[in-house]
Parts: sequence; structure tokens; C-alpha cells
Amino acid sequence: MPSLRLVRLAVHGAFYVLLAIAAGPALAGTAPVAVLPPAAVLAAVYGLGIVRSARRPGPWLAAVTALWLLLLAMDHGFSYVAFPLFFLFLHAMPVRWAHPAVAAATAAVVAAQAGAPGGLTAAKVIGPVAGAVVAILTGYGYAALYRESRRRQQLIDDLLHTRDELAAAQREAGRLAERQRLAREIHDTLAQGLSSIVLLARAAETASPEAARARMREAGRTAADNLAEARRFVQALTPPALEEAPLPEALRRVTERTVPGAVFRLDGDPCALPMETEVALLRLTQEALANVARHARADHTAVTIAFLDGQVTLDVYDDGIGFTPGDGPADGRRTFGLHGMRERIAALGGTLTVESAPGEGTAIAAAVPVGSGARPREAAGEAAPAGPAARPRHTGAAA
Ligand SMILES: Nc1ncnc2c1ncn2[C@@H]1O[C@H](COP(=O)(O)OP(=O)(O)OP(=O)(O)O)[C@@H](O)[C@H]1O
Ligand SMILES: [Mg+2]
Repeated sequence: MPSLRLVRLAVHGAFYVLLAIAAGPALAGTAPVAVLPPAAVLAAVYGLGIVRSARRPGPWLAAVTALWLLLLAMDHGFSYVAFPLFFLFLHAMPVRWAHPAVAAATAAVVAAQAGAPGGLTAAKVIGPVAGAVVAILTGYGYAALYRESRRRQQLIDDLLHTRDELAAAQREAGRLAERQRLAREIHDTLAQGLSSIVLLARAAETASPEAARARMREAGRTAADNLAEARRFVQALTPPALEEAPLPEALRRVTERTVPGAVFRLDGDPCALPMETEVALLRLTQEALANVARHARADHTAVTIAFLDGQVTLDVYDDGIGFTPGDGPADGRRTFGLHGMRERIAALGGTLTVESAPGEGTAIAAAVPVGSGARPREAAGEAAPAGPAARPRHTGAAA
């Protein structure tokens, strides 16, 4: 709530400025220096209260008020410090106490002014009273603003919570649907085929040599059909993003969709990679960007894929709030994202490094070796591109 923070800053600033102005003559040597020690103690006590911002500010408020009354009794120049104190009373006390406290402080100022040279005049009464009225009216405005901001914050928190719940429910529903689809596919194809192979093999055991050969031929055909089914099945698991576009293009689309404003870079000549490598790199990018969107609060995000000699590297960098790798989320939840990335890359014989620290952004870097099967996309069948491309450099520092 920046506007409320600004109001608070203005009140504290006004307190110190007015205290300094009141202590000015003593500092300059034109007034008794006896006020300086209590003024210094008041400044320190007040500052301590701001820094500690205790849940029960009563004792602190009492100490600040007592020191101010002492200074007021010594020198009526400290009357003006009452103004920020009015706000302090109105902010920190319940209304039934705050209004009498403001009235009492106003009375103390008027009494101090009565003791000042020239005695009490109408202006010396009207001034503090008007100040108190302005403070009370402003206090009401401040309280309304505070309530409104609290309500908004609550609303935003509720919305974020609902959005997370919805996303989790959708993910879960998707996972269940996919699991059911896989179970159906396996049941209707592979399981059926394997059970008929088992039956044929059993029948062959007791059949005549001629009939056994026919059964084994039949079993071989069924196995070949099943193999074809299994291949089709694995093909069907290819993410649609990779069916629609080559890997760099798919990564560019994912980057732009998941983190608006994120930059995508491609280094080197893209080559066709084995499907499992492409799927792993796509999934890694999706999860790393989802993490940026969910956790990082980053201003800049960059995804870089580089096709180098013998390996492909993928870097996802953000300049957000960062975290301590290995610590896990503060709420103690079980998480899968980083763990899944690590497993996918390890399964391909690659390496994954996560560099991050609180306040330092996050860099996720994966490197996967590319076997001799990799060829330039545009010229499949020709030699792989010559010359190692430089490894992409992050645009910012991460611990
Ligand atoms: N880019 C990032 N910036 C800041 N914190 C991050 C970033 N990436 C991960 N984290 C921190 O690391 C934790 C673990 O991330 P991970 O992806 O494993 O789990 P998650 O995103 O919390 O949940 P999920 O299992 O749904 O992915 C996160 O909860 C978050 O605190
Ligand atoms: Mg995650």
C-alpha cells in the first residue's frame, strides 16, 4: 500500500523536522541547551518505535508523549511537535482514547503558550485548536483509505488463491483424463496383443510340430502388429506444440505465451533432435517459465537455446526475487517442477544447473549431448554445421 506508506513517512518526517526546528535555537546557542538531552532522547525513542513497530504501541506512545510534555514545559517552542503527535494518537489509539488525547495535547500547547512572553492571545488558542481539528478530519480520511486498501488487498489475495486452486484443479483433471486415456490405449492394444501371444505360445507347446509352427507364425504377426501399435501410441504422445512447429519455434511461442515480454534467442544452426530430447527441452522451458510467472516477479526474462558442437544448451534466466536452491517453498508443500526437470535431463545424459539466491534472479541451464543422429533441419542428410557457437551469456547476474 504505497499511498499509506507515504502518509506514514510524511508524519514521521514532519515529526523530526519540527523537533529539529524547535531545538534549533538551543543548538545555535541562542536558547538554553538544557532542552537538548531530552530532545535527543525523544528523537531516539521515537525512531526506535518506528523501526520496531511493536504490536502494542502503548508504552512507546506514553514515553514519546511524556518526553514531549517535558520539553514543552521547558520551552514553548516545542508546541509545533504536537501536530505530528496528533496523527500518531489518531493512528495508534482507539478512537475513544485518541480524541481525548488530542484534546489534552491541545490543552497542553495552549497552556505552554499562555506561559510564553506576551501571554495568551486568541491566535495562540485558535492555532492549536485548528491544528487538532485538521488532524482529526485527516485521521478520518486516512482511516477510510486504510480500510479500502485492506479490502482491496484481501480481494487480490482471494483472487490469486482462487486462480491457483483453479489451475491446480485443471492440472489434476488433465492428469486424470490422460491417465485414463493411456490405460484405455494399453488395455485395447498392447494388453490384448500380449495375451493372444501368450495363448498362442501355450497352444504351440502341446500342438504337433506343423501346428506349432503355424501358431508361432501367428504369434510373430501379432507381436509385429503390437510393435506397430506401440510406435503409433508413442507418436501420439508427442506434444502438439512440437507437431505444429520445429523446436526453436515451439520454444519461442511458449516463451511469448507464458511470460509476456520475455525474450527468446536462438544461437547456432538448429538441428533435428531426437523426439525425447525435444520433448524434454520443451517441458523444461514450460516449467521454468511457469515458475518465473508464479514465483519470480521478474522484470526481464530470457530463454536461449544454443545448438553447439556436440550438445544443445537451454538457458532460462530471470532477474526476479530468486530463491535458495534446495530450500523448497516456505509453506512446506511437496513440489515437482525442478525435480522433474532434473530427472528429464538426467535421463538424456545431460546436466542441469540451477543458479539462484534471494534477490539475485534465477538461471536454469540445461546441456544435453547431441548424438551423431542430429542433423541441420534445413538440410537433413548433410553434415552438421561447423564451428562451435558461443554459449549464450546471461544478461544479468545470478549467484
Ligand atoms: N524463477 C524462480 N524465481 C523465484 N523462485 C523460484 C523460481 N523457480 C523456482 N522457485 C522456487 O523454488 C521452489 C520450487 O520450484 P518447483 O518448480 O520445484 O515447485 P513449485 O513451482 O512451487 O510447484 P510445482 O510442483 O507445481 O512446480 C518454488 O516454490 C519457488 O519457491
Ligand atoms: Mg514449478
